[in-house]
Amino acid sequence: MKYQEIRSQARSILKEKCKVCEDCNGIACRGQVPGVGGKGLGSSFIRNRVMVRETSLNLDTLVPATETDTSVTLFGKKFRFPFFAAPIGALEINYHPSLNDLTYNEHMVAGCREAGIMAFTGDGAKMEYYEGPLKIIQDNEGVGAPTIKPWDNAMALQKIRMAEAHGVTALAMDVDAAGLVLLAMAGTPVYNKSVEELKELCDSTALPMILKGIMTPAGALKALEAGAAGIVVSNHGGRVMDDAPSTIEVLPAIAEAVKGKLTIFIDGGFRSGEDILKALALGADAVLIGRPFAVAAYGGGTEGVRVYAEKIGQELKEAMIMTGCHSLADATPDKCWKR
Ligand SMILES: Cc1cc2nc3c(=O)[nH]c(=O)nc-3n(C[C@H](O)[C@H](O)[C@H](O)COP(=O)(O)O)c2cc1C
Repeated sequence: MKYQEIRSQARSILKEKCKVCEDCNGIACRGQVPGVGGKGLGSSFIRNRVMVRETSLNLDTLVPATETDTSVTLFGKKFRFPFFAAPIGALEINYHPSLNDLTYNEHMVAGCREAGIMAFTGDGAKMEYYEGPLKIIQDNEGVGAPTIKPWDNAMALQKIRMAEAHGVTALAMDVDAAGLVLLAMAGTPVYNKSVEELKELCDSTALPMILKGIMTPAGALKALEAGAAGIVVSNHGGRVMDDAPSTIEVLPAIAEAVKGKLTIFIDGGFRSGEDILKALALGADAVLIGRPFAVAAYGGGTEGVRVYAEKIGQELKEAMIMTGCHSLADATPDKCWKR
């Protein structure tokens, strides 16, 4: 399948909830939560995308011609590209019932693995939507990272044990889901987490723990203190609070605080290979992409996911050639142009 076919197929399926816009920027879907948009006026989602667009890469081709290496090694595993699929949950409600949290993750985990990368899977009120993806990850040689909600520690510990039993690569917790009242209404409340509580979880497992939803240097230092292996600089795609800063704006200060001590992921508005390179140049080790991977899965299933990943992988390689980067280590802040 060609990428444009995947998109037009997705457009015909998703028409009510997601317009599959040329630039997935949060404008057409603003305020649609449930749905695919950002909360409130959608300003956090929109700002994520605007600020990624406003970050420019600049040309630097006067370097020796050598192979361009797009690979990254994280948590002992080598990946072909430094980007991954972000966890997306409640698919039937947010997108369309043609995929649910199980069938979606079947496509996502397999498609990412075929492309040499990894999918993060989600969690929710129903245990089957956590356990099902765990089995899918296990069937894919453990290449995948489940993301648990900030439940009380007893429930979180139970879910950590389940992840360990399925041989996953890493385990994330979206700590920025603390305010999701819908989960409390479903009888499964989520909470703010203290450093002590997080430390109990991190200390309990040999799995690398990634805290998703960190937006300040102070938050990143707390993650470090708690024993996390990584963080995702994220505002949950703008879905948990209106008027947050964009993730790419807060990245440099966070990188200054914890680069080399924690693996730094970022997400929010990254769409192309050029966008990935901008994030790496400003201090991220890898990028998660949410909505465009969901569109790829709806429009083309496993193949759609693989085709989208290959497409941005190729864009990344070309952007690296144009900015004089032989490997990801060459993606330094000077690759971004400043006014
Ligand atoms: C419909 C939808 C559902 C989501 N569900 C989850 C989830 O269950 N767990 C989670 O950690 N993040 C969830 N996210 C947030 C994404 O993982 C990611 O942080 C965000 O989509 C990144 O922004 P982008 O879509 O602009 O790339 C969801 C996002 C969307 C759009």
